[in-house]
Amino acid sequence: KDTHIIIAIDGPAAAGKGTLSRRLAARYGLHHLDTGLTYRATAKALLDRGLPLDDEGLAADVARNLDLSSLDRSVLAVHEVGEAASKVAVMPKVRRALVEAQRDFAATAPGTVLDGRDIGTVVCPDALIKFYVTASPEVRAQRRYEEIIGQGGSADLAGILADLKKRDARDSERTDSPLKPAPDAHLLDTSEMGIEAAFEAARVLVDAALQT
Ligand code: CDP
Ligand code: CDP
Repeated sequence: KDTHIIIAIDGPAAAGKGTLSRRLAARYGLHHLDTGLTYRATAKALLDRGLPLDDEGLAADVARNLDLSSLDRSVLAVHEVGEAASKVAVMPKVRRALVEAQRDFAATAPGTVLDGRDIGTVVCPDALIKFYVTASPEVRAQRRYEEIIGQGGSADLAGILADLKKRDARDSERTDSPLKPAPDAHLLDTSEMGIEAAFEAARVLVDAALQT
């Protein structure tokens, strides 16, 4: 039996993918990659240099030169960058470059947890186990809102909800690797689930998968 474990976690923005991924990685001793950071870092590099977001060749060059080991979550966690990330994420050449780096990471021993939009469908279709994490748009907007307020920032709930819906639509409607559950993914709706309950539900399924 293959001893290299890959756990794939997909879902829309602010569904709780990262939180669940970090918990599972710690529980099973695996490395974790938030693949959203690779799209965010590509977008941010373009924004910082004042370069256009709609030049596919240029964006792909930036994507190919990204250093996965120096992705900074705090700097990237701003709204404008998420918005710009979903724009470069529609470009096939950008996706090809980032997916290659993500697959290299996925192969790191002894195993990995990757979260994003297309992990179970495109990046790691042979993952040991796949989750599709969702929650209602209202719940997700509320969570993002509380996150920003908790960090001492100011936010507007209605604006966050509108932005989430717009970004989800762009991610779901693109032709290359749209956001959708893999046929063999476990659906996890966390609308009425706390972090602990979501982790526990996933853990039981991972334990079962490890035993078969
Ligand atoms: O990675 P993703 O954008 O999908 O979401 P996240 O950053 O893991 O979670 C967004 C926010 O929702 C965080 O502040 C989590 O603490 C919170 N959360 C929650 O309240 N209940 C859950 N079941 C999962 C996450
Ligand atoms: O944290 P949040 O869920 O808000 O977003 P993210 O995971 O940081 O992803 C930012 C954007 O990158 C998404 O809206 C997608 O357009 C894109 N993305 C993607 O296309 N494929 C992935 N595997 C991960 C992110």
